[in-house]
Amino acid sequence: MTSRIDLDAADTPDTFQPRQHRPSRAAQARPADWNALDDDLAADQRWSTWPGIEKSMRGPLPYPEFVIEDAGAVDTELGVLKTGKEADVFLIERATAGRRSILAAKRYRPPDQRAFHRSTIYTEGRTIRRTRDARALKNGSTYGRQVEATQWAAAEWSYLVQAHDAGIPVPYPVQIDGTEILMEFIEDPDRAGSAAPRLHQMRPDQTLLDSYYTQLIEAMRGFAALGYAHGDLSPYNILAAGPRLVVIDLPQLVDLAVNPLGADLLARDCRNVCTWFAARGIDQDPEELLGELLAAAWP
Ligand SMILES: Nc1ncnc2c1ncn2[C@@H]1O[C@H](COP(=O)(O)OP(=O)(O)O)[C@@H](O)[C@H]1O
Ligand SMILES: [Mg+2]
Repeated sequence: MTSRIDLDAADTPDTFQPRQHRPSRAAQARPADWNALDDDLAADQRWSTWPGIEKSMRGPLPYPEFVIEDAGAVDTELGVLKTGKEADVFLIERATAGRRSILAAKRYRPPDQRAFHRSTIYTEGRTIRRTRDARALKNGSTYGRQVEATQWAAAEWSYLVQAHDAGIPVPYPVQIDGTEILMEFIEDPDRAGSAAPRLHQMRPDQTLLDSYYTQLIEAMRGFAALGYAHGDLSPYNILAAGPRLVVIDLPQLVDLAVNPLGADLLARDCRNVCTWFAARGIDQDPEELLGELLAAAWP
């Protein structure tokens, strides 16, 4: 996969248009060995990875309408949505004859390619079951770094599935394949093909602001009811898809019952949220919100 349209969804939301959909290879038969490299595919294409993904590594049933299951589908990389600290988010088109859908692919990088490491405060209390993996992680081998990237991806996958099942507004998790998560692309309803802007860029009117606030508190209550704090909640990890808020970036979710710093991390989430809304005239005491969420975690 070569073509890189480097853009930051937050800074240049209106400049991005996905490439024109070229006549799809999908109408042709897929090679019998679905892993085979196919000369007909362009450098930024691959056969859909869906057929090779175990059922348990696919999103919850029922699959939304945009999930294409066709084994003859082709994935085309349309560009980089955002390069991040430990993961890059790509825009992927999955297309078959007559159907196409756009997905977001979040790919975790091995830690040696990261700008900095997500602190271990988040993983406190999580156990690594396979001793070989635990040893590799400890001694920092190449294999160990790969294991770490895979584990962050697996963690985010699991939290996306749990949150989705609990009705919390997160992108629908389509599939996980090692270090790559494919998920619903949260689109800006006013600009087809563009990612929804992050909350921090929004200047909502009073009615929309009130609705955003209600939605966000409801989402935080949802996480708390599952026993979690988001752990990195801020207007940068919330997308505003028109009237709808969607919470993203879940790998560091914190188990409130297990992590000794859980309440502190939840308090920080509350402060981040309250500060943004307070600057726009909605006053909510972060301590009060924290109390309410802790009560929701232990009803
Ligand atoms: N499902 C998605 N739909 C649309 N844009 C997304 C999606 N997931 C991530 N993005 C974009 O990519 C950026 C980085 O994703 P995020 O999950 O926050 O990773 P990071 O750990 O790099 O912050 C987001 O701020 C958002 O602009
Ligand atoms: Mg983020």
